[in-house]
Amino acid sequence: MTVGPHLRRPIRSFVLREGRITEGQRRAFAGPWQRYGVEPDTGRHLDLPELFGNRNPVLLEIGFGNGGALLQMATRHPERNYLGIEVHRPGVGHLLLRLEEQGLANVRVLRQDALELLRHHLADASLDGIYLFFPDPWHKKRHHKRRIVRPEFAQLVARRLKPGGLLHLATDWEDYARHMLEVLDACPALHNQGGPDGFVPRPQDRPQTRFEQRGQRLGHATWDLVYLRR
Ligand SMILES: C[S@@+](CC[C@H](N)C(=O)[O-])C[C@H]1O[C@@H](n2cnc3c(N)ncnc32)[C@H](O)[C@@H]1O
Repeated sequence: MTVGPHLRRPIRSFVLREGRITEGQRRAFAGPWQRYGVEPDTGRHLDLPELFGNRNPVLLEIGFGNGGALLQMATRHPERNYLGIEVHRPGVGHLLLRLEEQGLANVRVLRQDALELLRHHLADASLDGIYLFFPDPWHKKRHHKRRIVRPEFAQLVARRLKPGGLLHLATDWEDYARHMLEVLDACPALHNQGGPDGFVPRPQDRPQTRFEQRGQRLGHATWDLVYLRR
């Protein structure tokens, strides 16, 4: 039996493995989620000024893992708002607990597919910046179609960023770094800020993430890419 295109499962950039969740992280979904969690209404854009209670710049981190980088950036910049999105429940729980401990007011958290957020719940020119640090590289060739950086991602990012908005990516997988370069350089609305090879030196202010630390222990190099929305 052939399966019609509408019945095929969408190709996602993640596989949901629930992993271990601690009792504290479980509690986080009952408590801090009420303050920090965001569940967009079907078919509606998020009202970002209402969500944060101000009109400060909004930056989105996609796939924040355990949220360490997001916490550092949000603590350093109380004058900016941060939206974080991650599908991995234990990571979200971990971040929620840290947010509550530190009482940060400038962070909101989503637990869903970032592509769905970008497609359906953010207005054009609504973001000042987007961070994508160490996305799953999907090493095997037959899995490359799962990579989150693909032409649709580039177009969505370009539309949701304000003119002059920042897109910053990092990876420790050279083949994925070159793929990012190829896909993003092909998007006319994005202007690569890198040198002749297309990459930038690691920006001093980029927090080190858990995946980056793990890669460094294995001797991996890192590649940073920075684009501005034209
Ligand atoms: C390799 S990890 C890196 C985590 C973190 N950025 C770091 O550097 O430590 C990639 C993360 O992206 C998340 N992820 C992958 N695809 C996603 C998507 N479409 N929407 C939200 N999160 C996603 C995964 O659950 C995973 O936690």
